[in-house]
Amino acid sequence: MAEERVPRREFIRFGAAVGLGVASASVLAACGGGGESAQSEESTKKEKASSGGTTDPAVGAGAPIVQAAFLPPGFAFPFTISETGKPAILVHLKDESWAAYEAVCTHKGCEVGYEVEQPMLRCPCHGSAFDPANGAVANGPAQKPLPKVEVKAEGENVVRA
Ligand code: FES
Repeated sequence: MAEERVPRREFIRFGAAVGLGVASASVLAACGGGGESAQSEESTKKEKASSGGTTDPAVGAGAPIVQAAFLPPGFAFPFTISETGKPAILVHLKDESWAAYEAVCTHKGCEVGYEVEQPMLRCPCHGSAFDPANGAVANGPAQKPLPKVEVKAEGENVVRA
C-alpha cells in the first residue's frame, strides 16, 4: 500500500525574510504560490526532471549551500547531496549555529521536513520527529537519529564540509 507522502516543499515553511541564497534563487522561484503562469509551471517541471524529481539545489562536498545572511536563525533550507541524490536539510539553529542532516526518515524512508513554528524536523508519514540541534529522535516510531551532513560557515556562506 502506498504511503501518503507530503512534499517537503509544503512542509517547510519559509518566512518572507528568506530571500536569495547562493543556490536558492531557482528554488524559491519554483516555490511560487498559485499565481504561476503556464510557462513557469513548465520551467518547474523541466527543473524537477533535470534534478531527479526535486528542485532543491544539488550541493557537492565543499560547495556553498546558502548565504548565511539569507537564512535567519530558526529557519531551514533544503538541498540535495549531489553525490548520492539524497535530500538534505540545513538548519540555522536559534543559537546561531548550523546543522544539516539527510532528510530521509530513519523509520521507513519518507522525506523529512522542518517545522518553523515549533522547530523540529518532522516526518509526515508516521509522525516521527527529530531534534534539529542533533538529529536525535524526539518522537518515534523512528529509532535512529537522522544522519548528519557536515557543514561549516565559511566567509559569507554555509558550505558542505
Ligand atoms: S517513515 Fe517517517 S515516521 Fe515512518
